[in-house]
Amino acid sequence: MWSGATRAVLFAAAASVGRGFAGRRRELLSLRADIERAGLDTLAGRKAARSRVLLIAGRPGWGRTALAEELARRLADDYPDGVLSARLTTSAGAPVPTERTARELLGRLGVSAPPGADEDDLSEALRAALDGKRVLLLLDDVAGAEQVDALLPDEPDCLVVAVSRGPLTGVPDVRPCTVGGLDVSAAVGLLAQYTGPTRITCDPVAAQSLVEECAGQPAALVLVGGWLAARPRRRSPTPWPGCANCRRTRATSTTAPAR
Ligand SMILES: Nc1ncnc2c1ncn2[C@@H]1O[C@H](COP(=O)(O)OP(=O)(O)O)[C@@H](O)[C@H]1O
Ligand SMILES: [Mg+2]
Repeated sequence: MWSGATRAVLFAAAASVGRGFAGRRRELLSLRADIERAGLDTLAGRKAARSRVLLIAGRPGWGRTALAEELARRLADDYPDGVLSARLTTSAGAPVPTERTARELLGRLGVSAPPGADEDDLSEALRAALDGKRVLLLLDDVAGAEQVDALLPDEPDCLVVAVSRGPLTGVPDVRPCTVGGLDVSAAVGLLAQYTGPTRITCDPVAAQSLVEECAGQPAALVLVGGWLAARPRRRSPTPWPGCANCRRTRATSTTAPAR
């Protein structure tokens, strides 16, 4: 039987449906704190020469992009010259050449790329365009440290938020924020965004086992939630025994549990 506290957490999570982004309080706090951290330059008594790089690392499907975008939304007011984003791996899995990314970013800054420019010229033009500006640069799916290095502004008032699978050890002075599963409350909240709150509040046992089986992985929860949403009469694996709605659903269910 569920303790009152556990049920209260699950009910609160289900009630928070529709808010979009779920959880990640600890990660957001630690990423924000990283912006203010004294870097190696400051510790050595020098003025920082380049932008701070915040790194969100982890395997695909664990909500790295969602976290980076949420962070960018929350920080946008601090970067009045804009939030620019670029994906550094193609959908086929190949690294995007710096030349292409620099051209795209220059275009979004309203700067024309110098005619006949090579990769170094374009990186330099991007740095010049960012000089004196406060821009947040979100670099998603970074394939290697050299991609970040080539695009890194020489402007301490800009901020780079990078997303990658690994720790990008080639970028100096970076402390990766490694993402794992969502906590139970956030994971149930995300599931409820798809199933609606009723199925969760009347069957919290099943909701908790589902999020545990998914290890709180957002991509898995989105898939399971979508699957359940498409089957409104399907019962969950371990229905809440006291719920009249679940008893009705059990009586009408003809299919296997939603596992
Ligand atoms: N904290 C979250 N709150 C709500 N939805 C999330 C959260 N994290 C991830 N998602 C959703 O889960 C799916 C996978 O997340 P995504 O950020 O694309 O993973 P990754 O970038 O690590 O591959 C997306 O549909 C995304 O919207
Ligand atoms: Mg992603």
